[in-house]
Amino acid sequence: MCGIVAYIGNKEAYPILINGLKRLEYRGYDSAGIALFNGKTNIFKRKGKVSDLEDFIADKDITGKIGIGHTRWATHGEPNNENAHPHSSQEGKFVVIHNGIIENYSRLKRRLISRGYKFKSETDTEVLANLIEYIYIKGKVSAEIAVRLALSKVVGAYGLVIICKDEPDKLIAARKGSPLVIGIGEGEYYVASDATPIIEYTKSVIYLNNDNVAIIRKDELTLKTVMNDMLEPEIQELTMDIGEIEKNGYEHFMLKEIFEQPRSITDTFRGRIALDHSEIRLGGLLDVMPKLEQAKRIIIIACGTSWHAGLVGEYLIEEFARIPVEVEYGSEFRYRHPIIYKDDIVIAISQSGETADTLAAINLAKEAGATVIGVCNVVGSSIPRETHAGVYTHAGPEIGVASTKAFTAQVTVITMIAAQLGYKRGTLSKSEYRNIIKELVDVPQKITKTLKSNNLFHKIAELYKDKTNFIYLGRGYLFPVALEGALKLKEISYIHAEGYPAAEMKHGPIALIDQNMPVVVIATKDESYEKIVSNIQEVKARKGIVIAVVTEGDTIIKGMADHVLEVPESHKAIAPLLTVIPLQLLSYHIAVMRGCNVDQPRNLAKSVTVE
Ligand code: G6P
Repeated sequence: MCGIVAYIGNKEAYPILINGLKRLEYRGYDSAGIALFNGKTNIFKRKGKVSDLEDFIADKDITGKIGIGHTRWATHGEPNNENAHPHSSQEGKFVVIHNGIIENYSRLKRRLISRGYKFKSETDTEVLANLIEYIYIKGKVSAEIAVRLALSKVVGAYGLVIICKDEPDKLIAARKGSPLVIGIGEGEYYVASDATPIIEYTKSVIYLNNDNVAIIRKDELTLKTVMNDMLEPEIQELTMDIGEIEKNGYEHFMLKEIFEQPRSITDTFRGRIALDHSEIRLGGLLDVMPKLEQAKRIIIIACGTSWHAGLVGEYLIEEFARIPVEVEYGSEFRYRHPIIYKDDIVIAISQSGETADTLAAINLAKEAGATVIGVCNVVGSSIPRETHAGVYTHAGPEIGVASTKAFTAQVTVITMIAAQLGYKRGTLSKSEYRNIIKELVDVPQKITKTLKSNNLFHKIAELYKDKTNFIYLGRGYLFPVALEGALKLKEISYIHAEGYPAAEMKHGPIALIDQNMPVVVIATKDESYEKIVSNIQEVKARKGIVIAVVTEGDTIIKGMADHVLEVPESHKAIAPLLTVIPLQLLSYHIAVMRGCNVDQPRNLAKSVTVE
């Protein structure tokens, strides 16, 4: 949520900043801005996309070897030129970019107004810029001290990069809550919200921790806490490859990421499933496995698509390992005084590893003494660093805002955890355990087969692209898939869609069904097949349009439904990984046909670092 990029060194900063903003645009795209210092500070900012900013800047002075850039997801104040970052302080001493929310900004603002400050924007960031400046001028202190003192008065979350006009040899970066990573080059440094703008220049990085402040000169970096304690920077090597963050010939990142799934799922289980398929080994869970085996309860915490993966996890863990599981939204869990026992295991699922509500829920669980496991995609992000143990999903960077390959990677990880746990607890027999492993290993090739039906999904999209409502139904393992299918459609095409457990249809949604309502039914062969066939008949009796996702060769549903989308046969617990693919592609094609920006849907952001 909001992307930050900054540069200091011997190169011209502008190309680095503008390319960085394009890489970060998935984090927010309400407005974008850049500040460059070349003896004076030039600030350029524009409502809209990074490309709008680029057009605006075309004939301007873009020289400068130090600069900061920002792409915004609006929190305080509507997206317009004034509210766009960077924000400069009243006397022009400081220029600030910020990701996060300053919660006590209105109190700070009132105080600054009473001391003569006037504000140009409605943002909390401008308050911070002016607070730093006020302390700097009144206290006659250095920029660094002014920043640290200001931050000690701030309640909330921030990732910040600051330039001080009087001290133009440095960037000051600070982090609390919102992620920041520093790239180390030869006589130069890069700062960004994530590694994607940095990867083409250097692989050596430092992830800032909460309450860290970095004072960055082109050939020197000092790391300390807000309270002025010196810290030793921990340099890490990025494993990400530049090709992973480019479209590679696909029209959209989302399409590329959907088609990547055979590979990304293979990457998820690579090295974790023995070559002879005899066992699963999750290195990141070794230390906590004894606790997991003894757990009386597991709580899964997540948001958005990751929550749907968590719901699949509930079905998997309860079935394989016979441990009760609760699935919680981070935002609800953190505020409802939940009961947490010391022997609870909490599994936090998050693609970005930065979701503010999930992070806060983790901290709550940790304070209560629970053991917390992270299932995250972004290496080095906050959640893996806050948790006791974890499993990376290794899906590679996911740039499309609507999650696709991260979901299937999360479900793959949870399937491995559930199967391993079940086997260790003796609730899953050796042959069942090995069967699940074999089924998992077969998933990539089965998805490859399903992806070959893309033309059919395209044709069906063509027929229903103008509908205004959709219902998605599923039972058992396929209920979370119904939720995910509906979420995908509404996120990127702005069509209203609801996911329901198929049997719940009779308790409300059936009232909506008429000849205009497409009902997507996920109905592969499992023990509730007969029941869902009845549900399809109930929809047809009310003239609803049935689009059914079925097991290859199914003739019964084919005889009833308006359209069938086939997926290869599988174990019922593996079916979510296969059945979600046609739903991802159906949503994708409908959104493209409606002229929507599928990679950057309106109002959404990939990484929700504010609550
Ligand atoms: C946002 C994204 C979703 C994602 C959700 C949770 O809403 O647009 O795609 O599922 O956040 O994010 P996380 O990074 O925690 O999985």
